[in-house]
Amino acid sequence: MVLGQRTGATMYFVSLVIVLIVDLMCSLPQFPYDRWKNVFNWTFTYRTDSDIFAPSTLLAWRHHSLLLTDAQYLELARNKTKMAAWFVSNCDTPSQREQYVQVLQKYIEVDIYGKCGNLSCPRSAGSDCESLLGKSYKFYLSFENSLCLDYVTEKVFQRLATRSHVIPVVRGGFNYTKYLPSGWFVNAADFPNARELAVYLKGLGNDPQKYAAMLKEKDKLVTLGYKNDYCDFCEKLHTDQRTKIISDIKEWSHKATCYSPIDVT
Ligand SMILES: *[C@@H]1O[C@H](CO)[C@@H](O)[C@H](O)[C@H]1NC(C)=O
Ligand SMILES: *[C@@H]1O[C@H](CO)[C@@H](O)[C@H](O)[C@H]1NC(C)=O
Ligand SMILES: *[C@@H]1O[C@H](CO)[C@@H](O)[C@H](O)[C@H]1NC(C)=O
Ligand SMILES: *[C@@H]1O[C@H](CO)[C@@H](O)[C@H](O)[C@H]1NC(C)=O
Repeated sequence: MVLGQRTGATMYFVSLVIVLIVDLMCSLPQFPYDRWKNVFNWTFTYRTDSDIFAPSTLLAWRHHSLLLTDAQYLELARNKTKMAAWFVSNCDTPSQREQYVQVLQKYIEVDIYGKCGNLSCPRSAGSDCESLLGKSYKFYLSFENSLCLDYVTEKVFQRLATRSHVIPVVRGGFNYTKYLPSGWFVNAADFPNARELAVYLKGLGNDPQKYAAMLKEKDKLVTLGYKNDYCDFCEKLHTDQRTKIISDIKEWSHKATCYSPIDVT
């Protein structure tokens, strides 16, 4: 990318090359990385250590006057009859989530919708699926296909966008605890294995008061959508005069960023 930059009366050009990787860096197909050594200046990705950070979702607080009453959250909790739902179409993943869920299923009921399960919720009935989730299920599995630094997909945030009253159970390389408000999701990383997670979910699911408090915490959040407005980029272009060259983009994108699961045995 070649950009013109005007400083005072002098007009000069900087050749600024930016790597914009929008999806999972770890699983890029064979890419001739060697040819791209010492070419890129900045990174512009979802990773928090990028030169320009582009998170896929921004969160905000719902106005407190729009929340339900504690009694209503409790009623929602008490009305639920099903344990966990998982919507999934990729059944063979580096994170081995399918094996992880198999273990979960030994202890709790997990209804699997989509290609990898025997239940289906047709797209045309999208809103029905969503209301089924909010009305009947206690938990919604949001397990990433790869365990990579800062990598989190929109799955976990969709339930905020739709305001479905269901608690996400997350598993991924994103540091959920560090970057998200607490109290509205369950993080598989807090448990050594699927069995321990299942035991916890069972206890939480049978404790309407505690579960309802989580529903309320979740309901406090709203999503503001994708942040990719190029404003940070533009600002940095005009303020950051330092020279920077990324000697090895493969190392930046691959080294110590993705890992194999340690909670599947
Ligand atoms: C809970 O279930 C009852 C009985 O089906 C229903 O009347 C009520 O509207 C439900 N409450 C909520 C908050 O969904
Ligand atoms: C789906 O498969 C599970 C086992 O994987 C089985 O227990 C369950 O009965 C099946 N459900 C339906 C609706 O076929
Ligand atoms: C996540 O962030 C917290 C707080 O910064 C830190 O203590 C914890 O070690 C991090 N977890 C992982 C898995 O990196
Ligand atoms: C950008 O990288 C190129 C090498 O591709 C380098 O020659 C140039 O000085 C760098 N520019 C800035 C502003 O860092």
